[in-house]
Amino acid sequence: MKTLETERLILSKWHPRRDAKDLFEYAKGPNVGPNAGWAPHESIADSKMRIKKVFLKSGIWKISLKGEGKAIGSIGFENDLRRVDMKSKELGYSLSEEYWGRGIMTEAAREVLRYAFEELKLDVVSIVTTPDNRRSLRVIEKLGFIYEGTLRAGQMTYDGKIKDTMCFSMLRREWEFRRSFQSEQA
Ligand SMILES: CC(C)(COP(=O)(O)OP(=O)(O)OC[C@H]1O[C@@H](n2cnc3c(N)ncnc32)[C@H](O)[C@@H]1OP(=O)(O)O)[C@@H](O)C(=O)NCCC(=O)NCCS
Repeated sequence: MKTLETERLILSKWHPRRDAKDLFEYAKGPNVGPNAGWAPHESIADSKMRIKKVFLKSGIWKISLKGEGKAIGSIGFENDLRRVDMKSKELGYSLSEEYWGRGIMTEAAREVLRYAFEELKLDVVSIVTTPDNRRSLRVIEKLGFIYEGTLRAGQMTYDGKIKDTMCFSMLRREWEFRRSFQSEQA
């Protein structure tokens, strides 16, 4: 997978042995995984298994601050199961709580969206979240996604709670418009 770079961040491939400890450190708590729909990790071995079975399989990037090797978050795509017949992907992300509120995920996601439209030539990128995830909703808004609607009782969380799913998307032409607008501002 291609390593991506932003002003403050490096997005690179996960390494099961080297990165499992860092992942476990932030994924064991109650606020990261559950907000993203997955259970807190139980051990370093559990984190290592998820790097192998989830991150590497789907091509999910590790997020690190430049100059530091530590894994502080993840970002990447899954297949958009509502749009199987086109060049589409669904974005997902999570970040160590220690680093919240510094604009890190918005910065990472902007570069991943650039990669998606410019290099993967996708037609549409979607993202979903739950109404209670105010932070992610704000990131989605800052990125410029368009709200499509809410699937009532759209998902069951890992611990059996049923939640609504708020759906957003960005079309290629919308991304191109934002890009031309931003380069005019620069
Ligand atoms: C969602 C998440 C990735 C955000 O990462 P981040 O780097 O903190 O995001 P940013 O700093 O780029 O933006 C967060 C925004 O939310 C705002 N925010 C923080 N707490 C908030 C709250 N309680 N209500 C509303 N907005 C809030 C911040 O002020 C910021 O907006 P601003 O730039 O206008 O000030 C991170 O909180 C996380 O990993 N959460 C757990 C996993 C998760 O929810 N994943 C997404 C699943 S859809």
